[in-house]
Amino acid sequence: MADRIIDPEEYETDEPMWNPAMRAIPMPGIRKMVNLASQMNDVIHLSIGQPNFPTPQHIVDAHIEALQAGQTGYTMDAGLPELLTALCEYYSERYDRQLTEENFMVTTGATEAIYLALSATAAPGRQFLVPDPTFLLYAPLIRMNGGEVKPIPTRAEHGHQLDPQEVIDNIGMRTYGIVLNSPSNPTGTVYPRETVEAIVQEAAYRGIHVFSDEVYDHLILDDMEYPSVIRCTSDLDHVVVASSFSKTFSMAGLRIGWLISSQGHIRKLRRYHMFTTTVANTPAQWAGVAALRGDRSCIDEMLIDYRARRDRLVQLVSEAPHLTGYWPQGAFYMLPSLPPNVDGTSVALRMLEETGVCTVPGDAFGDSCPNSLRISYSTSMEQIEEAFERMIPWLAKQKF
Ligand SMILES: Cc1ncc(COP(=O)(O)O)c(C=O)c1O
Repeated sequence: MADRIIDPEEYETDEPMWNPAMRAIPMPGIRKMVNLASQMNDVIHLSIGQPNFPTPQHIVDAHIEALQAGQTGYTMDAGLPELLTALCEYYSERYDRQLTEENFMVTTGATEAIYLALSATAAPGRQFLVPDPTFLLYAPLIRMNGGEVKPIPTRAEHGHQLDPQEVIDNIGMRTYGIVLNSPSNPTGTVYPRETVEAIVQEAAYRGIHVFSDEVYDHLILDDMEYPSVIRCTSDLDHVVVASSFSKTFSMAGLRIGWLISSQGHIRKLRRYHMFTTTVANTPAQWAGVAALRGDRSCIDEMLIDYRARRDRLVQLVSEAPHLTGYWPQGAFYMLPSLPPNVDGTSVALRMLEETGVCTVPGDAFGDSCPNSLRISYSTSMEQIEEAFERMIPWLAKQKF
């Protein structure tokens, strides 16, 4: 069956058509699994990276109303003024600090925000410290633009927490930036305030920039205050935050995200934005205004479900032979480990072929956890239960 998967070599072609920088873009491990799964019947996906809830009705209504009201032209380059104001008020209140509309720029999802921030800053001679495992966008974007990636491994036995001292000890002469993603995709780890504060403060002291991907900032499953980098610094010149509506409001396909930074940085990035997507989708920006201004109890309702699934998943992983888990506090992922030296990719492929359960191997997210499987619990409790009914006997038969 493996020969039906797209050959990774196709992505590393030497064909003269492509900029050699394209070689920095790997064949995404997720795609590999999903391609294989698409040719099979009766697959249970524990591989999904987007919420499985419907978009709240008032957000859908606002989107449709905007279309019907003729809101189909370009907006201002920084974004729809009403959305910039809503974002500014929302963040100023949430983090109890006075931000202005000029601290924000609306983008096509957090993906564009991350693209703009990293590709506008990565350059030869500039090194970025990036936790490993981590979301697959950062390292290729840095490398495509000539930057250097220095992975900072996180460890399953520490719940994939980032050790701030290890980050600080790795800062060297070439270090230009530090990438953070909390809650993390693929681990679900939430960094405590002490970690974020120590890194942000050291970075500011050393003149290093922190790029913080906060798309899961509302998906915090334990009783804790979310430590955004915005809470941990008075000076936005050293931090760039990317976030979006995709996960919080289950509206990934509407593609609205944003950047938050100093006014000077935003002014620069607005010019670059003009050369990428010009502006984000206009009716979807109105949907975003409704998300921020409307009733936000929909988030609490989703959190109740995510929390119940997380609790059950941790229990199921502890019952599964050969899997070792930990306590993920956010997002909707967990990255349990297989025994050392077991190849997660071959386990994930065989498990998919033999049980129909689709997970994503850890090597899709970096080099430090090849013996792991990312499990997404953005699916129903019934699907999670059934997946483990298939996985547990299968794992029990494996001789690792
Ligand atoms: C950590 C992380 N950042 C960014 C994104 C992209 O978000 P958006 O849909 O807003 O582009 C994702 C999507 O899976 C993600 O997991």
